[in-house]
Amino acid sequence: MKPMTIRPGVYPVGAVDWDRRLFDALVPLPDGTSYNSYLVQGSEKTALIDTVDPSKQGVLLEHLKELDIKNIDYVVSHHAEQDHSGALPMVLAEYPGAKIVCSQKCKGMLIDHLMIPEDRFITVADYETLSLGNRTLEFIYTPWVHWPETMVTYLREDKLLFTGDFFGSHLATSDLYVVDEGQAYESAKRYFAEIMMPFRTNIQRNLDKLRNYTIDVIAPSHGPLYNRPEFILKLYHSWVFDEPDSVAVIAYVSMHGTTQKMVEYMTEALSQKGVCVKQFDLVEVDIGKLAMALVDAATLVVGTPTVLAGLHPKVAYAAILANALRPKLKFATAIGSYGWGGKAIEQQQSLVPNLSVEFLAPVLVKGFPREADFVALDNLASLIAEKHKVLPMPSSWHISRV
Ligand code: FEO
Repeated sequence: MKPMTIRPGVYPVGAVDWDRRLFDALVPLPDGTSYNSYLVQGSEKTALIDTVDPSKQGVLLEHLKELDIKNIDYVVSHHAEQDHSGALPMVLAEYPGAKIVCSQKCKGMLIDHLMIPEDRFITVADYETLSLGNRTLEFIYTPWVHWPETMVTYLREDKLLFTGDFFGSHLATSDLYVVDEGQAYESAKRYFAEIMMPFRTNIQRNLDKLRNYTIDVIAPSHGPLYNRPEFILKLYHSWVFDEPDSVAVIAYVSMHGTTQKMVEYMTEALSQKGVCVKQFDLVEVDIGKLAMALVDAATLVVGTPTVLAGLHPKVAYAAILANALRPKLKFATAIGSYGWGGKAIEQQQSLVPNLSVEFLAPVLVKGFPREADFVALDNLASLIAEKHKVLPMPSSWHISRV
């Protein structure tokens, strides 16, 4: 069976991974993923855009054979991570005349990771072009989405933008293009939160670089293609440029119910004062959901008991993760309980040096909270609500943003 067609002579030849449930031994994939690769035929030359994860290289090869591709001149490598580059050695062996086209940085990484010989590379500069005859590839550097070597490729005559991980989503689907924008929003936001959010400033610059291109289709290396590019462009614009919303994320662990009592009280108090709350029990949390909540949140409230005189290890894990994801939080605080003392709060603050937040005074309770402790929680909720007054309330993506 022949692959679908994006344009005459432009085909998706990658692989859908319906069953993968974890990426980078960290990121949950509730809806699977795909490793998108594209074949572009010009009147004189043929280019393959990215490859696939090595576990699916047989699928890529099968698709190329179904299209009866006897010769590949160029393999454009946007990004050296192995889910897109891992099948390069197989492609180079099957097509001995093929050269890898990539940035100088990417070349070094591909040699480091895959031991590809120097003479199989052509490096390209920012905005450099490569003719396929009647089609032209233009390479645009988009560093740090999400590694330093990343770039995208604009197929000028067709107004197609191949973007590697940029704008991707972990979503296994048989649809070539986005069909359900609600589902695409969820998958793309999860992807952004877990992969792209730490590089918001770089993404701002990269979005600016793409501003003057007329784009009919965005073809990322994960998930369905966007034939309504403004959908994903506006979402990214909002995620990287907009102020956070009036959202407080409460992430907590409770061993004997005391911290949970405080968390429940805090959630209620904040809600009554008009702050949107997203509450997560860290014992069973889907970290993708937590990361997504942090995309728009202004405040992080950590609820922790004291274990062995310090933070609960699951809270420490969440703090390290939040620190790595660098969300646009403005405020952070903690609530929780202890039996005889400890350094849980100091430890927590030391784990989040990347967060440019104002730390609000925590509410820590010895044993079960008493009336004065609930008053302190009320005061903390009032302080958060006051600070959120200037922030917008969260709204539906389909009404306000796209
Ligand atoms: Fe999809 Fe960064 O690899």
